[in-house]
Amino acid sequence: MKHLLSIEKLARADMDIILADTVTLKRERGRHAQLPLAGQTWAMVFSKSSTRTRVSFEVGIRELGGQVIFLPSHEIQLGRGEPIKDTARVLGRMVHGAIFRTFAQSDVEEFAHYAHIPTINALTDQEHPCQILTDIFTFQEKRGPVQGKVITFIGDGAGNVATSLVFAAGKAGFELRLAAPKAFQPAAELVKRSGGKIVVTEDVKAAAAGADLLYTDVWVSMGREKESAERLHQMNGYQVNADVVRLARPGALVMHCLPAYRGKEIDEETFEAHAQTIFDQAENRLHVQKAILSWLVG
Ligand code: CP
Ligand code: NVA
Repeated sequence: MKHLLSIEKLARADMDIILADTVTLKRERGRHAQLPLAGQTWAMVFSKSSTRTRVSFEVGIRELGGQVIFLPSHEIQLGRGEPIKDTARVLGRMVHGAIFRTFAQSDVEEFAHYAHIPTINALTDQEHPCQILTDIFTFQEKRGPVQGKVITFIGDGAGNVATSLVFAAGKAGFELRLAAPKAFQPAAELVKRSGGKIVVTEDVKAAAAGADLLYTDVWVSMGREKESAERLHQMNGYQVNADVVRLARPGALVMHCLPAYRGKEIDEETFEAHAQTIFDQAENRLHVQKAILSWLVG
C-alpha cells in the first residue's frame, strides 16, 4: 500500500517517478491515454481551509477518471469527536483513496494505518509534501535540474513548507538556506535527519546572496492564529522584497506557496514582478498531484 504522508518518508526513486510523470501529464492534459482512477471514488477530509489543494485535487481526480467527495471535518462526525481511527476504518471500506488536510502529522499517519487505502497528506502542521514536490517541479521546468542549486527560504523556518523543504534538500540535492528568527528555525535534530546541505541563519542577506530561488510562505500558518502578534513582530525584517532579490543570482526565481500576505512575508511590488512564476507554481499543483495519484494507484 503506497501513501504520500511526508517528504521525509518519500523514497528518492518515487520522487523521481512523480516528477517525470508530471511532465507527461502536463503536456497531455485533456488528451489522457489512461484513466487510472476510473471506477474509483476518493474522499478529501479537510480540517483547514484550502483553495489550491482542494481545487487541484478535485479537478485532478476527475481528469484521471475518478469521482471525489469533499468532506470538511466540521460536517462529518470527526468534527464532533469521532476518533480518526474509526473514521479511517469506515472510509477505508467505502472509498478507494483519501486526501487528508489536518493539524498533527500523527493524525494523517494514524488515518493511513487504519484506512488501508492510499492516503495523501494535503498539509499538516509538520509537512506539506504536495507543495514541495510542486515547487521542485516548477523550479526544474524553468531552470533545469535543482541538484546543486541554492534555494533560500525566508520567514517561518519551522513551518510545514520549510520542514518539507528541509527533507527535500537531502533527497533532491539542492543547498537550502533558511533565514528565520531563532524562535522560528527548525530543530537541529530535524536538519540532521534530512542529511541535506542546509544552512540555518538569522542573516537574510547572507542567505539570499547568489541564490537561484527565493521562497517564502505566510508568517502565520493555519492553526497559529493566537501567536499572530508575536509572529508578525519577530518575523518583521524577514520579507522577500527588492532589496533581498537584488542580492540573489541575476534572474533568480521568486516563489510563494500562496496565499500571500502583501506587506508581510513579501511586498506587493516583488509579488507582482514574479506573479508569472508564482501562478505557474500554483497551476503545477494540479499536474504534480495527478502524477502523485497515478503513482499511488499504479
Ligand atoms: N498552497 C496551498 O496549499 O494553498 P491552499 O491552502 O489554498 O490549498
Ligand atoms: N504554512 C501555511 C501553508 C498554507 C498553504 C499554513 O499552514 O497555513
